[in-house]
Amino acid sequence: MDMKRRTLLKVIVLGDSGVGKTSLMNQYVYKRFSQQYKATIGADFVTKEVQIDDKLVTLQIWDTAGQERFHSLGAAFYRGADCCVLVYDVNVLKTFETLDNWREEFLKQADPGVPETFPFIVVGNKIDVDGGNSRVVSEKKAKEWCVSRGNIPYFETSAKEDYSIDEAFLCVAKTALVNE
Ligand code: GTP
Ligand code: MG
Repeated sequence: MDMKRRTLLKVIVLGDSGVGKTSLMNQYVYKRFSQQYKATIGADFVTKEVQIDDKLVTLQIWDTAGQERFHSLGAAFYRGADCCVLVYDVNVLKTFETLDNWREEFLKQADPGVPETFPFIVVGNKIDVDGGNSRVVSEKKAKEWCVSRGNIPYFETSAKEDYSIDEAFLCVAKTALVNE
């Protein structure tokens, strides 16, 4: 029998508060965007089916809280992740500088077999703001960061304009599938 096997891939989205993690997921899954900021508390997931070649995979995407006081996820939460998406805001330097902390936190908690090859994806969000005039982290600088940490794929997005989000999550799905 040639039954298609269903694959569930666990994806965890991390990054500072306000960078647009929830907005990216809402745009990707529900095609909607809200200007209003509502802090995520704890963690919650959405699912999205993605076709990759002849395989139908289900992404289980976990949104997390960037605010320290809401961020209390134990190792059990991180374990079994197939991919980790690190999000920062290209207009706020601090959110880029903390990427290392998020990455290390993830590796410490998830404890993957081979940390050097665990699939991360980096997303620089809010490229629409002020027509790009208020950005403080250049694409070059972000890409260098990614290259020096094991060639992490890099995407620049706008959750507001729905720019490059499908591409980013397709990459997430493909990378996670390889890791699974
Ligand atoms: P926490 O839940 O606290 O971790 O924050 P978050 O990372 O989930 O941020 P959220 O998605 O709630 O977005 C924060 C604010 O930025 C909201 O007011 C959004 O409307 C806004 N925002 C998110 N993405 C974009 C974007 O691409 N462009 C613009 N202009 N605003 C955005
Ligand atoms: Mg949120």
